[in-house]
Order: sequence, then structure tokens, then C-alpha cells
Amino acid sequence: MKKIGVAILGLGVVGGGTYRILTEHREFYRKTQNVDIEVTSVLETSRSRAESLAVPPEKIAVNIAEVVCNPDVNIVVECIGGISAAKEYVLAALNAGKSVVTSNKELYAKFSHELERAAKRHNAGLFFEASCVGGVPIIRTLLDGLQGNKISSLMGIINGTTNYILTKMTNEGMSYEAALAEAKKLGYAEADPTSDVEGFDAAYKLSILASLAFHTKVPFTNVFREGITNLSKEDVEDGKQLGYTLKLLAIGKRTDAGIEVRVHPTFVRKDHPLASVADAFNAVFVEGDAVGEVMLYGRGAGSLPTGSAIVSDIIYAATHSDVKYSTFKNDAEAEKDVNFADDFMSAYYLRLSVSDESGVLAKIASVFGKNHISIVEMIQREKEGGKASIVLVTHETHELAIKNAVEKINSTEIATVESVLRVVS
Ligand code: HSE
Repeated sequence: MKKIGVAILGLGVVGGGTYRILTEHREFYRKTQNVDIEVTSVLETSRSRAESLAVPPEKIAVNIAEVVCNPDVNIVVECIGGISAAKEYVLAALNAGKSVVTSNKELYAKFSHELERAAKRHNAGLFFEASCVGGVPIIRTLLDGLQGNKISSLMGIINGTTNYILTKMTNEGMSYEAALAEAKKLGYAEADPTSDVEGFDAAYKLSILASLAFHTKVPFTNVFREGITNLSKEDVEDGKQLGYTLKLLAIGKRTDAGIEVRVHPTFVRKDHPLASVADAFNAVFVEGDAVGEVMLYGRGAGSLPTGSAIVSDIIYAATHSDVKYSTFKNDAEAEKDVNFADDFMSAYYLRLSVSDESGVLAKIASVFGKNHISIVEMIQREKEGGKASIVLVTHETHELAIKNAVEKINSTEIATVESVLRVVS
């Protein structure tokens, strides 16, 4: 039987889950895959982490050189996170001809070109299923299952922390701050939650997924990004009244104007399948020309779900002798002839604070009219001090038209636009 040795770099949440799955399922993989996969080395500075997993002391390496020089290591699994050490270690492994499995979305989104170049040079495999949407096998689906399709769009909830926060704000009326505090208590949000709540995490993932879906490098810097930190309870409540649920969506589209990639809070109708994706769960819709719509749903984070994605990559690497790389020119930048849309179409939700007097509505309507923006529905609420709150939803229009209209309204004395949110119509 073929023997495969695995080294795990980092035994934190994800590395620890991977270690557990590999050791507990070793016999199962011998039977079902006809391959004996053994963890032959780990690189972990915390003795207590290694001890809690009962890693035999002789398997604990002291540095990366020891790992990559070990002839009993065929596959190196990177679960360190961040860039500097992770990049150095992954390159060292690839340069030594070891296949690499990584869960590191930031590393892959920013440096896939460098990693792939090293992998190709040494005929090593490079696998990254766990970098996007945790245990949900979206990458294998794009690389293999949907390869026969021209994909026109993908859309999804690909960050669990923000989905948990938005679920709490929607279902329990919590403020953003209270929901974030709860997400931290449960270990979803990190002490510094910036990467999740400002949409960086989702943007890294979207850059990877869109590159695979559209067969062209979609650099992270091309992803339009807006986080959830400025959302108010008022918007969540107003949206609910209009039949919408607020989600942080990642959207990638191939349009006539170019490739569109964006991450932002979005209202979806309550009966849309994404509206019921609650708590820390993730879901992704992909639309292919042959298959139509495909939706994947599951846990986008966590020790065993992310470990599941890593172990699937390990098994794939262990049982496939050929190595498959990107189907596009994997450079740092997008190819020169690829267009990225700088404007896009969406419906919009706007909340305005207005002076409650005659003629105000007509003036606002006139600004919308001049920008070819058509209103679908509107509600008005009395506020104190001669003010009123107007909430409206538009038909699909250009992002640039909304920006112009908002600027124009804010330059008047009669109204201030307090919120602008996109709506999936
Ligand atoms: N922090 C991510 C999330 C998980 O909340 O979805 C890892 O990508």
C-alpha cells in the first residue's frame, strides 16, 4: 500500500482539527483510498498544543528546515495563517518538491502567482480548498465539478463571523457592538475583528473564487469592499419592515462591461434562499451556462469543518499523480486586456433624514428623476424636531447614478442621506 507522510505546520484550531481527522480516520483511508496517510512531522512551538493532541515528541520538528529535509514528509500542510512565516515555509516546502495544502486565504489571494511558480518548477502540488468557505467544497466544485461550464456569476455569504453578527442584529434586535461582543465571546470573531467586519476576509476569498470561476486572475485589489461596521439597528429594522434581510454578500459577475467583484452589506428578500442562511453558516450560488444554478451550504469555519477541506486536499494529493495548476495566466496583476467594471447595476435602499415640510419630497424625487433612478417603494416616519425619516427602495440602477444623487441631495439644506445599501432584487 502507498504510504504518504504529512507534516502539519501549526496545531491551532485548523491544524489541530486536521491532526485529529488524519489520526482518527487513518484506518478508514487505508480501506477506502488504499493509501496509508500518516502525520510524520508537526511544527508547533506550543508544547501544550502538541501534548493535548498526544503528538509523539519525536514527531515535533524544531524548524522548517527539519520538516522540508525529512524524506518521510510528502505533503506539507500550512495552518499558520498570516503572511511572513507562512509564505517562507510554503515556498521552502515547494522548493523541496513537497506538495502543499494551505488554508491561508490571504497568502493565496496575494501570492498565488509566486507559490504556483515554485510549485510548477518542482512539479509539486498546490491545494487550497480550505482557504475559502471552510468545509464547503467550493474550490473542488469550481475546479472539477463545474469545469464544463462558462460561469456567469457567483454570489454568496462567505464570512461566518459577519453572518453571525447580522443574524443577531436581525433576529434579536442587537446593536452591531453587542452582536460583535457576543461573536468574540463565542470565538467566531478575533480580538481584532477588522479582517472579518471590514470585509477583507470575504474579499480575499472572492478574489480566489472569481479567479477560478472566470479563468482570469482577479487581484484582491480589484475587489470593491465595504464592511458592516457602519450598519445601524434602524436599517436592519426598516429593511425587515420592507421584507428584506441584511447579509454581507460577495458577488462576482462576468458582464459585458467586464468582471465585477464586490463585497458589501446587501438586503436580500426574505424568501431568497440566502436569507435563511443564519448564524455562522455560509452558502454560495454559482451559475453556469450548462448547469444553471448550483448552491452549496455549510460551515465556513471551525476546527473540523476546515480540517475536512484540508484532509480532502491531502487525499487528493495522495491519490493523484498528475498536478493541475491555474487555467489562467497566474500573475500578480490581471492580464492587461481584462476589463474590470468600475460601475455596476443594483437596486438600492436609502434612508434619508428630511425636513418635514411641503415640497421636500418633490425636490428629492426630482434629483432621482434627473439621475434616471426609479423608486419601487417608500415609507415615511415622523421624527422629533420637525424632521422625518424617509426610507425608499429603487429599481436597478447604476452605482454611479446613486452616488451622484446622494451627493446632490446632501448638498441641499432639506435632506441628508444617512444610509445607502445595495439590494438584490
Ligand atoms: N473568519 C472567517 C469567517 C473564517 O468568519 O468566516 C475563516 O475564513
